[in-house]
Amino acid sequence: MDKNINITLKVWRQKGPREKGAFETYRLENISQGSSFLEMLDVLNEKLISEQKEPVVFDHDCREGICGMCSLYINGHPHGPDDSITTCQLHMRRFNDGDTIMIEPWRSAGFPVIRDLMVDRSAYDKIIQAGGFVSVNTGGIPDANAIPISKKKADEAMDAAACIGCGACAAACKNGSAMLFVSAKVSQLALLPQGQVEAARRAKAMVAKMDELGFGNCTNTRACEMECPKNVSISNIARLNREFLVAKLRD
Ligand code: SF4
Ligand code: FES
Repeated sequence: MDKNINITLKVWRQKGPREKGAFETYRLENISQGSSFLEMLDVLNEKLISEQKEPVVFDHDCREGICGMCSLYINGHPHGPDDSITTCQLHMRRFNDGDTIMIEPWRSAGFPVIRDLMVDRSAYDKIIQAGGFVSVNTGGIPDANAIPISKKKADEAMDAAACIGCGACAAACKNGSAMLFVSAKVSQLALLPQGQVEAARRAKAMVAKMDELGFGNCTNTRACEMECPKNVSISNIARLNREFLVAKLRD
């Protein structure tokens, strides 16, 4: 049964992208284990505001595991200690009375800190803009349904499409590689007939943009797959490598 707990937070505070950051310690009492992790941060901010102090800046939007905004490193793990969930799906019942919880922003060259726990994840948007779309006319719903797609391919495409662009993969990678994200976005389109028309151009453009934006190379440590809240498989990275190689050979 959920109870109320007292916790200590060590939160990364940083006034701006070029400012030096540091951990600050806060104590919170009577936090319901039934509350979400972000609700607990709301309580912290209400306390800070009531004390005339600056609230902690952190990103969030949907609070139901869809938008990918809640980019927090909690006790050394992107999205916290539980598997297959985002930060906003983490609950305080995962923690015990007397616990100390470390909260940091994503640590990756591709995601500079804007303030406190908020990072600039627009690099992923730029990679999508480079080629993560279909510009062929696929027609209306009846036309799309007229194209036969095997169940296996449809399932694989849907699994890749589960990626919410949260950035945990690059944040977890010691090389700061965005390969899991890029491979999921390339795969969800390359697996379907509608996406094959632009497949070669897409793979080359997205990989080039990823390199240009300072993301590192993949060395198969699988940290990305371990920390991905949507269980995106690194088999997508193998597919991206094949797509990229075929595109280069065609050149
Ligand atoms: S592949 Fe997973 S960790 Fe990476 S952006 Fe997509 S959902 Fe997040
Ligand atoms: S706030 Fe949208 S996924 Fe967490």
